[in-house]
Amino acid sequence: MSDIAKRNAAREALKLVEDGMVLGLGTGSTAKHFVDGVGELIAKGWKLSGAPTSIQTEKQAVACGIPLVDLDDVDVIHLTIDGADEFDPDMNLIKGGGAALLREKIIADYSERMVVITDASKQVETLGAFPLPVEVNPFGMALTRKRISHALEMLGMKDISIKQRANGDGSALFTDGGHHIYDLHCGQILDVASLATMLDQIPGVVEHGLFVGLADAVIIGNETGTQTLIR
Ligand code: A5P
Repeated sequence: MSDIAKRNAAREALKLVEDGMVLGLGTGSTAKHFVDGVGELIAKGWKLSGAPTSIQTEKQAVACGIPLVDLDDVDVIHLTIDGADEFDPDMNLIKGGGAALLREKIIADYSERMVVITDASKQVETLGAFPLPVEVNPFGMALTRKRISHALEMLGMKDISIKQRANGDGSALFTDGGHHIYDLHCGQILDVASLATMLDQIPGVVEHGLFVGLADAVIIGNETGTQTLIR
């Protein structure tokens, strides 16, 4: 996706921001533009604060002068703006390509409104071409993997490759929460709700990247402007 399209989507999302809001700050190359924009509003005197969805975004927010909220004290998150790896016609999402899905989901779920910023390359009829990230506790993770495999088979999803995510140097990736990620190469997820429910029931699964019913709108950036889908 071009950086111009990402920036256009982020700029459109900034129009939703009102003075005094507590904002959920997403993670990734698209959300990064939004965080930059929030920093610009603060420089103009707006009273905003942010709940970052990753350590990476937290560092950017601090550098941009955005005051951070303590999630233990916050009563409301008015608006969360975040990217996505895929979205379908029902605005169900796959997220977690940047390994931040757990914090992203906690913050999206708590927000009064969650808006996705993206471009048309992430738009699909059926989720699943993008490998589905599943964050797992390191304890007993081989057993958790078997449970995930079994869940996939129960849904008629055969021969799905499950790969543990690694860093560039081949070492095991740890998330901000100290967990690992299995990427499920599903191809197509025909029953998103059932897969989400089954993954939710596996004890070693900390969280998965299916965001069902969480997005209120999707802003699709392009080279010249944006198009917005609203639930
Ligand atoms: C982070 O874990 C992801 O959920 C990102 O939101 C997603 O990967 C989108 O990132 P880009 O905006 O960089 O495509």
